[in-house]
Amino acid sequence: MKRLALLFFLLGCSNAVTNPNDFKILSDFKKGLENPDLLKWPNTGRDPCGPPVWPHIGCSKGRVTAIQVQGLGLKGPLPPNINQLSQLKNIGFQNNRFNGNLPSFSGLSNLQYAYLNLNRFETIPLDFFRGLSNVMVLALDNNPFNQSFGWSIPSDLADCTRLVNFSCSSCNIFGEVPSFFGKLSSLSSLMLSSNRLSGGIPLSFSGSLLQILWLNNQEYGGMNGSIGVIGSMVLLTKLWLHGNQFTGPIPESIGSLTSLRELNLNGNLLVGLIPPGLARLNLQLLDLSNNMFMGTMPRLSAAKVSYASNSFCQPDPGLQCDPQVNALLEFLKYVEYPVSLASEWKGNDPCAGPWWGISCNPSKEVSVVNMKSMMLNGTVSPSLSLLSSLVEIHLEGNYLQGRLPQNLTMLRSLRLLDLRGNDLEVPLPKFPTNVKVVYDTPSSPSSHETSDVDGNVAHSTKSRFGIILASAALLTLVAVLAIIFCLMKRRRRKNGDVESSASGGIRTFEASTSPIFSLSSLREVTDNFAQENILGRGGFGVVYKGKLKDGTMLAVKRMESGVMSDKGTSEFQTEITVLSSVRHRHLVSLLGYTGEGNERLLVYEYMPQGALSRHLFYWKMMDLEPLSWCKRLIIALDVAKGVEYLHSMAHYTFIHRDLKSSNILLDHELRAKVSDFGLVKLALDSGTSFATRLAGTFGYLAPEYAVTGRITTKVDVFSFGVILMELVTGLVAVDEQRPEEKQYLVDWFWKIKEDRETLLACVDPALNVDEDGHDSIMAVAELAGHCTVKDPSRRADMGYAVSVLARLVETWRPHEGMSRCSSTRSEMPLPELVKSWKEEDRVAALNAPSQSHH
Ligand SMILES: *[C@@H]1O[C@H](CO)[C@@H](O)[C@H](O)[C@H]1NC(C)=O
Ligand SMILES: *[C@@H]1O[C@H](CO)[C@@H](O)[C@H](O)[C@H]1NC(C)=O
Ligand SMILES: *[C@@H]1O[C@H](CO)[C@@H](O)[C@H](O)[C@H]1NC(C)=O
Ligand SMILES: *[C@@H]1O[C@H](CO)[C@@H](O)[C@H](O)[C@H]1NC(C)=O
Ligand SMILES: *[C@@H]1O[C@H](CO)[C@@H](O)[C@H](O)[C@H]1NC(C)=O
Repeated sequence: MKRLALLFFLLGCSNAVTNPNDFKILSDFKKGLENPDLLKWPNTGRDPCGPPVWPHIGCSKGRVTAIQVQGLGLKGPLPPNINQLSQLKNIGFQNNRFNGNLPSFSGLSNLQYAYLNLNRFETIPLDFFRGLSNVMVLALDNNPFNQSFGWSIPSDLADCTRLVNFSCSSCNIFGEVPSFFGKLSSLSSLMLSSNRLSGGIPLSFSGSLLQILWLNNQEYGGMNGSIGVIGSMVLLTKLWLHGNQFTGPIPESIGSLTSLRELNLNGNLLVGLIPPGLARLNLQLLDLSNNMFMGTMPRLSAAKVSYASNSFCQPDPGLQCDPQVNALLEFLKYVEYPVSLASEWKGNDPCAGPWWGISCNPSKEVSVVNMKSMMLNGTVSPSLSLLSSLVEIHLEGNYLQGRLPQNLTMLRSLRLLDLRGNDLEVPLPKFPTNVKVVYDTPSSPSSHETSDVDGNVAHSTKSRFGIILASAALLTLVAVLAIIFCLMKRRRRKNGDVESSASGGIRTFEASTSPIFSLSSLREVTDNFAQENILGRGGFGVVYKGKLKDGTMLAVKRMESGVMSDKGTSEFQTEITVLSSVRHRHLVSLLGYTGEGNERLLVYEYMPQGALSRHLFYWKMMDLEPLSWCKRLIIALDVAKGVEYLHSMAHYTFIHRDLKSSNILLDHELRAKVSDFGLVKLALDSGTSFATRLAGTFGYLAPEYAVTGRITTKVDVFSFGVILMELVTGLVAVDEQRPEEKQYLVDWFWKIKEDRETLLACVDPALNVDEDGHDSIMAVAELAGHCTVKDPSRRADMGYAVSVLARLVETWRPHEGMSRCSSTRSEMPLPELVKSWKEEDRVAALNAPSQSHH
């Protein structure tokens, strides 16, 4: 009887037999997998939609509506025509090992939930998002999509108007955050951490109802611009912007974000005072570390607060600043907190130095404010009138606008006020007759003609002298920059026929003559900059592979036309000058360059094995052999030698500033060279530090550099220490996906490095070393510690790293039965090998162009 009922039931449902095409696609899916058994799908021709329905499948009316195979460990591709399962509502593919090309989902208009995260899909098609008109959740995180070129989010996604959650962290997205996200009215969570995004937070986000916004840790410098727009995103609960280059202050209106629970701004270039409203929020996490926030740090009740490495006036929250400091910070606010000053003006005593542009009298009162030609924008703050001992104010050569505050006329000691070359409103307020006011005559505002207003008092030579002293450092800086600039200009005009000069005690360097490549020849060798020749993408452009007629390979760095602002140009010129003068076996050589029209191209030697990061972190994905311990030691030594060379050149020091495993390139023998000197700046004699633009990549940045922007060679030593940690653990410097205590490699490594057992348990599992190896690893771990000491003065230097590593390489004897360092010359016993490299280094140094000066 029961059987009969079943038979009737089956007959009654005969119209529910699975759609044959759906059936075929499921079968193809299964067939394509390397481990299909994990699905537990029947091998007989039994119908997927049952009864009973196959495991992990959902059906409705004979059509497949759901596939839920999350976490099964499946390996293989998805069928290319999966979008013919047109009734699919629910896809759970996450947390498997799916690879190959992600097929298009175009046209899946019933799809609501799609989880594809935590897989190994290698590409994502352009039309993937087309027609997903009902999709609510798209999770694509942690897939190596289009690894080498990166990809940008196609505009089709703008039509997915019901989208609630979109996440694609660690997805290789480059370009700007599309502004359409601000117009998707249902969108509540946008997670795009750890991509290659650049540019600002779109203004369209103003007033958006987003609750979660994660834009942290973008590679290659990251996003920039103001974070002002967040002040109007009142539903935000989690805002993660850390590890970018955002600038400007926290908006005052942050106090209206009453739902906010997590705010992470760590490691940006943010400036200004902490708005009082922030202290009223009921936060669980607040991280303000590694910015240039100033003034008083308010007392906060958040469960987890970090604010280290800023320019606060007091070490502890809640303590007020000195009135002189408050007045000066208010002045800075009116000129938009220029980074040069925000990074310098820290602590609670402007007279203790090094407060750029501020001089004091012996009673420790501010007597001179010298802001000549500081590119200040904005208006003059009345707060200057609170500095009652001011004798001279120099504001000439800026972009100041608006009305000069009347209050300044009350300054009793003031004798000189220089306002030339600004755009201030006239008439100026009337100053007492003993004040010499210098300004442009209204009839010729751009000229530097001056006139005295009511003034007839000669100013004191003493204070004049003070200004000259105060300006000296600035002038030196300007002079150096000017000389470099002139040199560059001349070089460009002469199309590569370079000469240099040394003058006025300022050293410049002689560049070796680089062969000139024409634009057309570079077009030719790169197949007109063909996509398939892209080797990688950097902060300033794309690197292409090129092949000369004689078979020589080249790497051509093409600066993006969009970034050819002044900044890009000077960076480009710095790179040429530096690189063409520096030749070393462990530094990637610049072979030539061209600067025709808008194009700026640099030609480098080609490094066939690409970046160290590929071999350390992505070797599985890219089908490479993991690096043996021996190779890692040799790579570390190569890098140390290259950087040591940079640090110790004859009369000046080059500081790399952006040392990281993706900037270390390997040749066909896996020998390393340091690349990307785009950020190298010229530092005058050792010991001099330049507070210039912050560069470097989050996770490798020395704390003192992140905080003050102050550069010494120790900044590179710190980054090198982080690379050593990567070599030991096989973990990248920063990874938000790791458990919290492991996210920042340096911090975690410091915790584990002391105890041998703990450390050895954390060694890269791809390494297969014995007891001897363990000693070697412990020694490198110790060196990594020396290189990352917080206090730069107690940190090791590169010479020390070279000597430690050289000793380790020399004494490293692979154990019997273990594979040797297999370079092409590895037939030689290792000590001989080391000797032969030393000889090569020596010969290479002899052949290097002379670094001496005129
Ligand atoms: C990703 O790469 C593939 C293959 O190179 C390409 O066809 C596809 O258009 C790329 N995807 C995007 C979104 O650019
Ligand atoms: C979107 O993500 C949030 C936070 O992860 C989660 O609470 C919410 O349930 C998700 N929404 C949907 C529709 O899945
Ligand atoms: C942000 O960086 C880009 C280059 O990536 C640059 O063109 C742009 O001017 C920068 N914007 C701001 C506001 O600094
Ligand atoms: C002020 O504006 C000028 C021109 O608009 C710009 O070149 C300069 O960099 C700005 N200065 C600062 C400190 O932002
Ligand atoms: C400057 O003067 C204005 C009005 O004259 C006054 O409101 C303001 O408090 C003064 N500012 C300072 C810093 O003294």
